[in-house]
Amino acid sequence: MLEIENIRAGYGAINVLWDVSLTVAPGELTTIIGPNGAGKTTLLRALMGLVPVTQGSIRLNGKPLNGTATWNMQDSGVAMIPEGRMIFKDMTIEENLMLGAFAKQHRVQAQERCEKAYAMFPRLRERRTQPAGTLSGGEAQMLAMARGLMSDPKLLIIDEPSLGLAPVVVNELFEILARLKAEGRTIVLVEQNTHQAVGVADHVYLMQSGKVVLSQPASEVSLEKLHDLYFAH
Ligand SMILES: Nc1ncnc2c1ncn2[C@@H]1O[C@H](COP(=O)(O)OP(=O)(O)O)[C@@H](O)[C@H]1O
Ligand SMILES: [Mg+2]
Repeated sequence: MLEIENIRAGYGAINVLWDVSLTVAPGELTTIIGPNGAGKTTLLRALMGLVPVTQGSIRLNGKPLNGTATWNMQDSGVAMIPEGRMIFKDMTIEENLMLGAFAKQHRVQAQERCEKAYAMFPRLRERRTQPAGTLSGGEAQMLAMARGLMSDPKLLIIDEPSLGLAPVVVNELFEILARLKAEGRTIVLVEQNTHQAVGVADHVYLMQSGKVVLSQPASEVSLEKLHDLYFAH
């Protein structure tokens, strides 16, 4: 579904990604793990057209994706749930949700999708008229996920959803991810929570210093080996 071939990308004169290649199969959950600063977020930004790709190609269902403006990504069926959640604290929960269906073709279905989101995240329904700033960290992450689903994306990209959350909330989050996967959605999940990410994934990539250093089906991953690699420099 998604083919990233040999890309380089970075910030101005600073190159971060070095010849990164990665494939995402339809209906699968692909996880990208790696320590802080490995370039995981930069890779997702490159995918979304937020940082320029200076070498290589990105294709979605065979069509070039690089060059697609970020605001047109919804048309391509791609949605990203960014690191740090990026919800609008002064707006209500429902207003935040509606922003996820901002593009014209999604507006007619916005109400129906909102209902679907509330069915999946009942606590958001209870709080729908409250400012999003009143939510706990876990609830804010659920809101960010629900907003990402409002455009009914074929490809859902999630950057470090478990960051800063209590273990019990992290478990809840991984249950949601498993449900989304069971719905047949294609998911790219960036995580530092290696154990749980590998548990829910079909395929695992490990990134380090801007490079892919391991690509393996999740069923073949040895957590012990992965940790050795993770901490090796
Ligand atoms: N806006 C930016 N400008 C310059 N360098 C950046 C910027 N954002 C990230 N970097 C650098 O890019 C590298 C990779 O960062 P990032 O992609 O955020 O890693 P990760 O998500 O794996 O923690 C780091 O060395 C970081 O300092
Ligand atoms: Mg990051």
